[in-house]
Amino acid sequence: MAFATRLHVRTLSSSSARQAAIKHITVIGGGLMGSGIAQVAASTGHSVVLVDQTEEILKKSIKGIEDSLKRVAKKKFADKPQDGTAYIQKIMENISTSTDAAAVVHSTDLVLEAIVENMELKHELFRRVDKFAPEHTIFASNTSSLPITEIANSTTRQDRFGGLHFFNPVPLMKLVEDTPGFLVNRLLVPYMMEAVRLYERGDGSKEDIDVAMKLGAGYPMGPFELLDYVGLDTSKFIIDGWHKADPDNPLFSPSPLLNKLVEEGKLGKKTGEGFYKHK
Ligand code: 3HC
Repeated sequence: MAFATRLHVRTLSSSSARQAAIKHITVIGGGLMGSGIAQVAASTGHSVVLVDQTEEILKKSIKGIEDSLKRVAKKKFADKPQDGTAYIQKIMENISTSTDAAAVVHSTDLVLEAIVENMELKHELFRRVDKFAPEHTIFASNTSSLPITEIANSTTRQDRFGGLHFFNPVPLMKLVEDTPGFLVNRLLVPYMMEAVRLYERGDGSKEDIDVAMKLGAGYPMGPFELLDYVGLDTSKFIIDGWHKADPDNPLFSPSPLLNKLVEEGKLGKKTGEGFYKHK
């Protein structure tokens, strides 16, 4: 797991390889994934700047991190709540926020991007920070579906650019992928889309499909619960991108129902409604 201990990354400088410890991390994107990554990085002793467009978004991100840390602390320090408070405080001290990525990357070792799945926006962002980040800084994208090489093309550091794909909820899920193409989403997204198609055809209710997968396959969440948890917009971005690249593949067919829910702003847990209503 990438942040289980302090990150050490091998970079190539001229002909000799050198090891550099990653101490300072800039996470760009304060949504579910970016906040989770910032939390895990700060929890493992890294100094983190979390960047997003407005103070309002960042305030929400910080609140999300604090809430998640409270849940972690409640378990970790069940017998000593005061130690839990100190634990949260120490981690929060490792996190600062900014609305200007270019202004904060001057001393960072790793820039981790977790913004929307839009190639143009990613290019624009990386092109900008590439000008301001030091030479040794490694860039990485948390993209769930876009080709890393194509994202890296917008920078002058293709040899220091990688994919670091985390899973939601980041503080709990133990996998980080850097395999080209990524394995989990390639299996998981067609599975979730097939569940939506079953429901669209009337083969089963969403509740029944969810219960079936939990009881029959031992999954902790059913596909509709998971879609709401991941975000319907994120799932749509992924499937639309794959459909565009491979329109004849039936696994990547878009779903009218998913499109409709996204159009209505029903994006899942984060907006209070998706396939289900959430408190
Ligand atoms: N932060 C910290 N702790 C958390 C947490 C969070 N965000 N979420 C859950 N926990 C911990 C807490 O200790 C919680 O106890 P609490 O409620 O008393 O605080 C405990 O876990 C149990 O949580 P829940 O009662 O909410 O529910 P579960 O037992 O079902 O666990 C789950 C929640 C771990 C999310 C589990 O349902 C699960 O593993 N679901 C599947 C998630 C999954 O498949 N993720 C991958 C998505 S794909 C992806 O992200 C890729 C992207 O590119 C699309």
